[in-house]
Amino acid sequence: MALVTTKKMFEDAYKGGYAVGAFNVNNMEIIQGIVGAAKKLNAPVILQCSKGARDYAGLTYLVKLVEAATADTDVPIALHLDHGPDFETCKQCIDGGFTSVMIDGSSLPYEENIALTKKVVEYAHAHGCVVEGELGTLAGVEDDVVVESGNESYTKPEQVEDFVKRTGVDSLAIAIGTSHGAFKFKPGQKPQLRFDILEEVSKRLPGFPIVLHGASSVMPEYVKMINEFGGNMPDAIGIPEDMLRQAASMAVCKINVDSDLRLALTATIRKHFAENPAHFDPRQYLKPARQAIQDVVEHKMVEVLGCNGKA
Ligand code: G3H
Ligand code: 13P
Ligand code: ZN
Repeated sequence: MALVTTKKMFEDAYKGGYAVGAFNVNNMEIIQGIVGAAKKLNAPVILQCSKGARDYAGLTYLVKLVEAATADTDVPIALHLDHGPDFETCKQCIDGGFTSVMIDGSSLPYEENIALTKKVVEYAHAHGCVVEGELGTLAGVEDDVVVESGNESYTKPEQVEDFVKRTGVDSLAIAIGTSHGAFKFKPGQKPQLRFDILEEVSKRLPGFPIVLHGASSVMPEYVKMINEFGGNMPDAIGIPEDMLRQAASMAVCKINVDSDLRLALTATIRKHFAENPAHFDPRQYLKPARQAIQDVVEHKMVEVLGCNGKA
């Protein structure tokens, strides 16, 4: 099946009270693991590429790998630009075959965010592509940008109608307390999401798809495995899965996960080498790593997103 946009995915997800997973991809094994889960569970899925992914693998490799995945299955797959920093990057991805782009103007003054987002929307819509915008700033590390915990800012619900109306975006990422990376909360801090903001946003934008970034749970079993097999990760706290489930049952239609994939991949490779110190064929350790990606994505689809069987 050819790549699709997220339009119908989100309409169905909103009505059905579930969310579609958006997973970050950097190489073939990650793509195969994610799509393996989507195929097995008959789930729609979004594969997203960050700046880091494009710098690492190259845009053409990523697009071709994702195209190979679509040739191999009938589940709907969208190819999305994660945190597009400027118009040129968005244009390059739209021209290169992406079906969805994010323009991340969240760190700009409000009017500048509107002007940039509107420009991307005009180009994207003219080329059959959908656009995600963002209002509010998450804490954490994303690409080269570090926002210290305490310097994040929640989305202001009173801005959302104006922003969506004036930009024409198809979905909106909001900041309600999630954050990027594996270290989302300070030690001792209790994870909390501002469901009151989500509620208020969805009242002001009935039926409109909301996106949550920074939504890894930082799965403790993989942090434990990393440390058991030679790693030295400090305590890491993620977003509790029951909170994500609750968000998915509300207006949140897209939930972004990257860090949990990284942890599973790294933990599995560490374990593999601890148990097989003489191995040096990459296929020997990448095969279980790819399976670990699939396991994590299946877990998210069934236990967190509720998108299994919805393709
Ligand atoms: O939101 C950020 C994603 O986790 C991507 O991170 O730029 O290191 O690939 P990256
Ligand atoms: P995590 O770091 O929580 O996995 O978030 C990823 C993300 O939001 C990508 O845009
Ligand atoms: Zn993000």
